[in-house]
Amino acid sequence: MDRVEGLRKLSGRELYVDDLQVKDCLWGATVRSQNARGRITSIEFGASVDWSEFVIVDHHDIPGPNEVASIERDQPVLAADEVRHVGEPVVLLAHPSREMVRRAAREVQVHVEPRPAVLDYRLEPTPEQIQFGDDNLLRQLRIEKGDVEAALAEAAQVVEGVYETGAQEHVYIETQGMLASVDNGVLTVRGSMQCPYYVLSALMHALNRGQERTRVVQSPTGGGFGGKEDYPSVIALHAALLALKAKRPVKLIYDRGEDMLATTKRHPSRVRHRTGLDAEGRLVAQDIEVLLDGGAYVTLSPVVLSRAIIHAAGPYHCPNVRIRGAVRLSNLVPFGAFRGFGAPQTQFANERHLDVVAGAIGMDPIDLRRRNLIQEGQATATGQVIADGADRQRVIDRALVLADYQEKKQEHRRFNAEHSYLRRGIGLASFYHGAGFTGSGEVHLASKLHLAGLPDGTVEIRSAAAEMGQGVLTVHTKLACDRLGVGPECVRIAEPDTARVPDSGPTVASRSAMIVGRLIEDACDDLRRRLGVEAETIGEPFRDTLRAWHRQHPGEELLGVAKYRRPAGLVWDDQAYQGDAYGAFAWSVNVAEVEVDLRTFTTRVIDFVAVQEVGKVLNETIARGQIQGGVVQGIGWALLEECTWSEGRFVNGQLTNYILPTSADTCPIRVEFHESAYEHGPQGAKGIGELPINGPAPAIANAVADATGANPTTIPLTPERLMELLLHADAC
Ligand code: MTE
Ligand code: MOS
Repeated sequence: MDRVEGLRKLSGRELYVDDLQVKDCLWGATVRSQNARGRITSIEFGASVDWSEFVIVDHHDIPGPNEVASIERDQPVLAADEVRHVGEPVVLLAHPSREMVRRAAREVQVHVEPRPAVLDYRLEPTPEQIQFGDDNLLRQLRIEKGDVEAALAEAAQVVEGVYETGAQEHVYIETQGMLASVDNGVLTVRGSMQCPYYVLSALMHALNRGQERTRVVQSPTGGGFGGKEDYPSVIALHAALLALKAKRPVKLIYDRGEDMLATTKRHPSRVRHRTGLDAEGRLVAQDIEVLLDGGAYVTLSPVVLSRAIIHAAGPYHCPNVRIRGAVRLSNLVPFGAFRGFGAPQTQFANERHLDVVAGAIGMDPIDLRRRNLIQEGQATATGQVIADGADRQRVIDRALVLADYQEKKQEHRRFNAEHSYLRRGIGLASFYHGAGFTGSGEVHLASKLHLAGLPDGTVEIRSAAAEMGQGVLTVHTKLACDRLGVGPECVRIAEPDTARVPDSGPTVASRSAMIVGRLIEDACDDLRRRLGVEAETIGEPFRDTLRAWHRQHPGEELLGVAKYRRPAGLVWDDQAYQGDAYGAFAWSVNVAEVEVDLRTFTTRVIDFVAVQEVGKVLNETIARGQIQGGVVQGIGWALLEECTWSEGRFVNGQLTNYILPTSADTCPIRVEFHESAYEHGPQGAKGIGELPINGPAPAIANAVADATGANPTTIPLTPERLMELLLHADAC
């Protein structure tokens, strides 16, 4: 099936929020803190501007609590007395001219009496730096299986390591933006977002409005990658506050510099491993400590931490595991959701560490992984028994064959011995990703979906799922088509508009195909039940019945309804952190081949293989695109994308100096799927959207280690970092 919105996007007809032409619209702008932390002493409006032309909003204009409703309510909509990070919003302006409002924003000075800021989350804060609880630490989480200390004491070998990863900016193609207007007392906010119902609850909370007077519409969204999971609530609130005060529509669109300065990024991490092995190289103990930089506010950090620790031990069997995780707040921008949601950080550490372990015990890194890879019937760290019929050894086999792993190893030995300054190497990572919300998350979400049967015999899917390039419109259309036996011309997807669609949950956690897709199938069945026809009634007979129903019930609405049902047998204990963390895991192996230039210390990825077990593939082209896109994002995170901070300010927040991989930096990425139906997924599908970002960084770092003999433990592995390593290690 062709991508449903593909032609609209290719031809430039798709209207993103900034493209919408609105009569009498004002432009909004945001005045931000220039300090990492301090008390606001005064706000000075420059004398060169005629302020009577502007609508000006500060925290006094907020009708309800000055809180962005999220997991915690610690983040203000607009800073009132104190600021906690550079770029924190303080004052909002609106004006008919986009240029004028931007210039005016530069004429507002927020004067701050600085307070000691936390600029390195790895250091214990001093008493003056405490801003949350008594140690700046958020809820700490722990997973415990067996007896780690006893197992470490008896282990034949114990290998330790510490691994660090940096922040990462999402760089979605479309920057963030919202349009707010009030019509007949109903506040409508449209914009780029992943989660219309999150935005709705944030508006209702801080603006003190009921749902009947508040409406959120997702406009076509040019990429999200997690960056439009929580932050759109902030921009929606700002646009709404301006529109309510101005009594005119207001557009608030971030340019790239503002977006990069102020919005969330991937959590930096530090992970310690202490690993015990028996004489045959079997894992007997994994002791893992995870620390994430939360940034200035809590936002989604507790759930990112949860996913991080659940994935920290990797797709392996080990009888004794202890994983302790914490998030420490700092005074950098709030860190938030980014594809993978903590799992890439901890699996970077685990997969890099396994190569270090292999070196220390004199075992081949592939053999080490094969020996420990989780088998049918064995349990993960949380005690989830894996019995999905997926052939994980075969995923490794295929990746090695596709990558010519053994031949390349030989070839590299010759190449490296002969070449004066180029070194080639190959590295592997084996990893997994759980789809859907963690633990009882999906039960609490209790997602709902409607399928309207229309008088002309077509159907309309009503869900809150957001298309952001990942192909959900196409996949959802296909699922309804196949269930009803009709063509794509008979299936429409409603615009995600909270006034029209039920809450099918946020478009996150790779859940839209697997969880929401299943609801589409259920809603199709429910629609047929309501029509009083058999499950076999599909295609034209189904459409005829639908038309006939409407002739008999003129003006009435016919809805097939579906609600999330937890698959039987899934059990999760939120207190003990034990049980079935996810309905399904997707499994993958990446092999990266690199070439390092010892003159410049640059690393090029020259070949890449990604083999994965994702249940049944629903659309091969889109699935391939998901894997290739995730791999390229992983290459960037591993080698190029460095967030540099100075006094808490993101100093390379422009596309000229935040270095992203382009097509010129990208080698062929060879993708292969292994399919085995997942019983509870629609047509047997599992989630796939985030999986591919977990593997590239460790595979590449392992390849660099193979090429140079260095032991990289920190990414991004920039030329500067690699130079330090190689010059100090004397390894080349
Ligand atoms: N692919 C594209 N093209 N654009 C995106 O913004 N987001 C990723 C992934 N793939 C994203 C993407 C993230 S973070 C998630 S959680 C999933 O898509 C969400 O979509 P799904 O639920 O349809 O898998
Ligand atoms: Mo994805 S990080 O769950 O939006």
